[in-house]
Amino acid sequence: MASIARIAPLLVLLLAQGCATPPRSLYADLGGRDGVDAIALELLSRTSDDSRIAHHFRNANIVRLHEKLVELICVEAGGPCVYSGASMAEAHAGRGLTEADFNALVENLIDAMESLDVPRRAQFRLLERLAAMHGEVLAPPRPRQARDDAASPPQDPTAAHRSGR
Ligand code: HEM
Repeated sequence: MASIARIAPLLVLLLAQGCATPPRSLYADLGGRDGVDAIALELLSRTSDDSRIAHHFRNANIVRLHEKLVELICVEAGGPCVYSGASMAEAHAGRGLTEADFNALVENLIDAMESLDVPRRAQFRLLERLAAMHGEVLAPPRPRQARDDAASPPQDPTAAHRSGR
């Protein structure tokens, strides 16, 4: 009992300190608005020079893409932003993106963050958030028509003829 009484003030002090200094947000670790802006810019610059995936962005509106990327990363990192772009499924539907495309983009993002000296822990945390979007980016829901066609495969027009009916 005596020992608890001795450490109690220390515990109170530690708790008070913990409350006074909230953990830094990922947004802060990425460098806030300027940091996120620079990461998105560097990612797009590396991607447009990357012959593996640059063709996907041939007709892209890069100014808008940069703006939406900044918003998205900011929100994912817990920053004070609102994402106003298309959902990941909508934005990537019908683009035929592959696992290799996704990996190439992630590689460019890592290189971008390395070149900007983003702390490794913050890099991992952001990558973790973006990896969760993998399914939406690569496997957008199929259009209704394709789903209906798969549910009822087309009839063989020669079947009736062959069966003699
Ligand atoms: C986690 C991974 C990804 C994220 C977070 C992401 C994020 C975004 C965002 C925020 C937009 C803008 C949506 C809008 O305009 O409303 C977008 C569009 C687009 N993304 Fe991605 N993307 C990812 C993966 C990829 C990959 C792997 C590719 C191709 C290699 C790709 C190609 C495109 C293209 C071509 C557009 C449309 C640009 C335009 O038409 O202006 N994205 N993406």
